[in-house]
Amino acid sequence: MYVLGVGRTKFGVLTETMPELAYQAMYNAINDSPISIEDIGAVYVSNFLGGPYEKQLHLNSVVSSLLPELRLPIIRVETACASGSSALYQAIIALSRFENILIVGVEKMTNASTEESSQNLGMAGDRLADQTQGLIFPAHYALVAQQHMEKYGTTHEDLELVAFKNHGNSRLNPLAHFNHKEVSREMIKSAPVIASPLNLFDCSPISDGAAAVVISKNQKSDRDVRITGSSLFTDHISLSHRREHTSLEAAKLASKQAYEQAEITPKDLDIVEVHDCFTINELVAMEDLGICKPGESKDWVREEKTTIKGEVPINTDGGLKADGHPIGATGLAQVFEVTTQLRGEAEGRQVEGAKIGLTHNIGGVGGTAVVHIFERRG
Ligand code: COA
Repeated sequence: MYVLGVGRTKFGVLTETMPELAYQAMYNAINDSPISIEDIGAVYVSNFLGGPYEKQLHLNSVVSSLLPELRLPIIRVETACASGSSALYQAIIALSRFENILIVGVEKMTNASTEESSQNLGMAGDRLADQTQGLIFPAHYALVAQQHMEKYGTTHEDLELVAFKNHGNSRLNPLAHFNHKEVSREMIKSAPVIASPLNLFDCSPISDGAAAVVISKNQKSDRDVRITGSSLFTDHISLSHRREHTSLEAAKLASKQAYEQAEITPKDLDIVEVHDCFTINELVAMEDLGICKPGESKDWVREEKTTIKGEVPINTDGGLKADGHPIGATGLAQVFEVTTQLRGEAEGRQVEGAKIGLTHNIGGVGGTAVVHIFERRG
């Protein structure tokens, strides 16, 4: 199984409509691949909140309207913030039937107020047990941060280092939400509190954007990137059902299975994209993925091991924190970055000699976890 092409739009506060964004990403991915749109056998569409935000559901049929001459099987996939990677996971399974598949993820979020957004995004949590108690996303991850700090001695300064690195990386990514913004340690430290201990710079922003990926059963060109691992696990939705809060069991299971499929260990990874919806989740992800031991992620960021020139570069595009988080597109934007890096086409943010990459995409607070592994030996 191979990635033939990747495409995306800029992420941020954009004027384009949801179909316009999807169209741009789809055709960018097709034009990046050696095949044409007529060679596509099926399409998977990833979107979380088209209904509440844009009053538009039935996105598979919307995408059909963007392919005027073609009538294809098109399916929409939704697993909250992991929708993009879940669509890829489904598409990989469907390669048993189709030679080439297009996956497109899109979200239009910035027409709503922050308050409406918080309510919409909160739908990824348990309605009865958590949402109605005020446990919207920042509050959920604030609990995770509090417990990580208490258990391992992680400090807010460690979270600031994650935000500083990711904002720095986004300055090297022209398509990132915060590409235009120079962010200092002092700005991060003194930002307003959102849900203690998390402040503004611990949160991913509310973004518009789209991303797309073309995959195939067979290799078509030298630029293609092999998919060597693909795993998805689902956990109970309510936080009250979790055995612990400083680790996501579904992510540990998904990464273990993906490593087995790819026949690698975390030590083989050259570039990693993790779901840093809140800075604390970058630390939790490093531990769940086995990049470091539980409690050691803070030491890794203090020692700058996750910077572009570090031992395991993480979120070279800026991550969700600074590249942005247009939900349905996020998992596919991670694939865009890993593919671009493995092809050696990442320019100013290129990780020298990168051959193996991993994406880690989370829905809710670990209700869904999807891990993919990619390899290109140039
Ligand atoms: N990080 C850094 N800066 C941010 C930011 C973020 N996450 N969100 C907004 N900003 C900046 C804006 O660019 C703007 O800067 P400017 O004045 O230089 O133009 C300023 O802060 C105000 O923006 P605004 O949109 O009014 O912020 P807000 O206070 O309404 O919203 C949050 C901030 C953090 C509440 C909102 O971004 C949020 O809810 N994020 C989390 C989204 C989420 O839960 N996603 C799902 C996760 S799984």
